[in-house]
Amino acid sequence: MTSDTSPPRPRFKWTPKSVFFKIYDNILGRHGRCYVLRTLPKNSVGCELGVSRGDFSEYMLSLVNPRRLWLIDPWTYQPELAYEPYGGQVQKSQDEMDAMYREVSERFADRPAVRIIRKKTEQLTEEIADESLDWVYIDGCHEYEAVAADLRYFLPKVKGGG
Ligand SMILES: C[S@@+](CC[C@H](N)C(=O)[O-])C[C@H]1O[C@@H](n2cnc3c(N)ncnc32)[C@H](O)[C@@H]1O
Repeated sequence: MTSDTSPPRPRFKWTPKSVFFKIYDNILGRHGRCYVLRTLPKNSVGCELGVSRGDFSEYMLSLVNPRRLWLIDPWTYQPELAYEPYGGQVQKSQDEMDAMYREVSERFADRPAVRIIRKKTEQLTEEIADESLDWVYIDGCHEYEAVAADLRYFLPKVKGGG
């Protein structure tokens, strides 16, 4: 997804430190993905695409302490994606998605860094400025085309070197 003119983007590298934290987080019962968050710069501007109940967002706040955290999710029931939690595997109706949105809004109401956008990626317009994000965690719809569209949308939003 990089063009010839874009700066090189850092790739995740396993190190003794990241292996240690993967084991440490698991022992503490934290989410196994938390080691990724420990590689992100503190006081940065980040975005989680696909929020669900906000459990991983909570780890982002505690482990990264971002100065801005965009949380983007449509909280829409999508029965055409029946294998997804929000397509019927877990949530069974739009009412349940609406309730989840309300819970997330309340959960982060006292966190000034958090901004919530209730939209699908394909509905986003100018909410996120180009070159404004240090990082983005993409975990929305897992269909191939949807992930490709997410990458296309967010690539210009991330700062060079982000
Ligand atoms: C796997 S869950 C996210 C889990 C969360 N990141 C975590 O680790 O706890 C996927 C989320 O993507 C959202 N989603 C589905 N389609 C989307 C789309 N087109 N754009 C953005 N988000 C979408 C769903 O509403 C759902 O809450």
